[in-house]
Amino acid sequence: MKMLIKGGERLEGCVSVLGAKNAIAPLIAAMLLVKGRMCFENVPRLTDLEHLLDILRGMGASVEWVGEHTLSVETNHVDPMGLDSKQMKRMRFSILLLGPMLARFQRIQVPEPGGCTIGNRPIDTHLEGLGALGASIERDDKGTMFMEADRLKGASVLATFSVTATENIVMAAVMAEGSTMIRLAAAEPHVQDLCHFLVACGAKIKGIGTHDLVIVGVQRLEAPKKPWHVVSDMLEVGTFAVAAALTKSELTINGVVPEHLYATCDALKRAGVRYELGPTSLTIQRHARYEAFKLQTMIYPGFPTDLQALFGLLATQAHGTSCIHDPLFEARMGYVSELVKMGANAVVADPHRVFITGPTSLRGTEIRSLDLRAGATMVLAGLIAEGETVIHDAEMVYRGYERLDARLVALGASITCLHE
Ligand code: EPZ
Repeated sequence: MKMLIKGGERLEGCVSVLGAKNAIAPLIAAMLLVKGRMCFENVPRLTDLEHLLDILRGMGASVEWVGEHTLSVETNHVDPMGLDSKQMKRMRFSILLLGPMLARFQRIQVPEPGGCTIGNRPIDTHLEGLGALGASIERDDKGTMFMEADRLKGASVLATFSVTATENIVMAAVMAEGSTMIRLAAAEPHVQDLCHFLVACGAKIKGIGTHDLVIVGVQRLEAPKKPWHVVSDMLEVGTFAVAAALTKSELTINGVVPEHLYATCDALKRAGVRYELGPTSLTIQRHARYEAFKLQTMIYPGFPTDLQALFGLLATQAHGTSCIHDPLFEARMGYVSELVKMGANAVVADPHRVFITGPTSLRGTEIRSLDLRAGATMVLAGLIAEGETVIHDAEMVYRGYERLDARLVALGASITCLHE
């Protein structure tokens, strides 16, 4: 699919943020551990999520949409032999099935998961963590993993701030024998949401929101009666905030969680973006001049790597030379060459650092969407480029943003989608 964007339109009005893609994935995986039917609210309609739901359905889980953004899930009758290996390889977040499947079935055979092209996506932390809990793991030359654990036992493990490794270890530990100490745990809002959900099901987890989690294994997890409202996506907030800043629009973003946004708002402020952060909303004020900034992506609560490309685009409109450093991934600068094609003045100093000088006006041209967040960046670049921008492989954006084009059109953007 390709998106055709006519630049120069202002945005106005307000937009509501949906649940986080990186929160709903572990919540769905965790349902393999939970008895009973669960209703999740504020669930975004994303292609990656649909693939994950198909994997669960393929194993016999009952999964259906019971509302526009409400999902009902029950996994009482699930057969691991129904696991679709091809689907597992399609995306990174299927790795989140490792921990819960091991805890539930004691022995599993899974392919090495796939993922988008933002760099080497090792899983050593996942395997070391599950191994510390007693899993034996073998891999064949095709990368298929054979994992076995008659009874997972609590242990002290290091998660080295890996988001999905922390989530996998938590899901393996909540019904393990004895207690588990996870040091260097990731603390992203989506890791916290998973932990709070598991506690609501009867798990015993202390230290949620910190880098040290203590988990005492329990016998059984039961779905709570009340639906679970998926935590709102701080990455969607950042994306719409940059869209408003770039188009010099006034825009209110509703459904935000202020304490998840301190690093993002600090970066906005340092770039000269004017905003007001309320108890549940972020309003970007109309402004005309942005200043070059220095940005380093970090683990939470630092600046999120998933917003790096979007702030790289903002830097093309800021006065002076900005420096952006992303130590987490070594292939997350691909978007820069696409912006240079549009007229940006940027130099990629090494796989982790880019220097961007602005302001430069961008010209519409044909560009590609390289990964999910780079795709969103290309859409926003089209909003401010002179003339028409054509984004190829634009369906990549729907992996992590529900109807991003339609929601921008509703705010005043001029975007049409065509099948290639
Ligand atoms: C999660 O990926 C997110 N995905 C990513 O979002 C996000 O960019 C990333 O966390 C960082 O915040 C999901 O939650 C589904 P990591 P994950 O393990 O867990 C190294 C998006 O656009 N590492 O925290 O795979 C790794 O190389 C996606 O929504 C190991 O060395 O990221 C990287 O340098 C893209 N060994 C760093 O840790 C491991 O076993 C962060 O990786 C695992 C990771």
